[in-house]
Amino acid sequence: MQKTLVLLKPDAVQRRLVGEIIGRFERKGLRLVALKMVQASRELAERHYAVHRGKPFYESLLAFLTSGPTVAMVWEGREAVSVARLLMGLTDGARSAPGTIRGDFGLSVQNNLIHGSDSPENAEAEIALWFHPEELVHYTSSD
Ligand code: CMP
Repeated sequence: MQKTLVLLKPDAVQRRLVGEIIGRFERKGLRLVALKMVQASRELAERHYAVHRGKPFYESLLAFLTSGPTVAMVWEGREAVSVARLLMGLTDGARSAPGTIRGDFGLSVQNNLIHGSDSPENAEAEIALWFHPEELVHYTSSD
C-alpha cells in the first residue's frame, strides 16, 4: 500500500486547523499509520528542504518550519501520494482551488499549512527522515 508523509506546518497548528485537516484525510479514505508532534530543529528542517537550498526563500522557509510545533503524519492508501496532493491543492494558497486545504484556508505561498511528499520515492525518504520504523503501525484488516 502506498504511503506518504504529511506535515501540518506551524501555521496550521497555531491556527487550530489540525482536526479540520486530519478529518479531510480520514473522510477521503486514507488510513493514518503514524502521527506525532515535532518541534523541528534547524537540522531536520535543512534535511527536509535540502532540495530548496540556495533558493531566495530558503532561510525564511527554515525559520517558518522551526517556528513552532509541526504535526507529522504518515497516511497510506491507494495512490496516497497524489491523493494527498489533490486534497492539499497548489503550493500557493491564492492560486489553489476552493475545496482544497490551501484553497480554503490561506493566501500565502510560504505559510501554506501543509506539506505532502511529491513522489513515492520522496515519500519513502521523508518518512525515514521524520519517523523511526517502529513508529508506524500495521493494520491487520484491509479496510
Ligand atoms: P512545501 O510543499 O512544503 O514545499 C516547499 C515549500 O517551500 C512550500 O511548501 C512552501 O512552504 C515554500 N515555498 C515554495 N515556493 C515559495 C516561494 N516562492 N516563496 C516562499 N516560500 C515558498
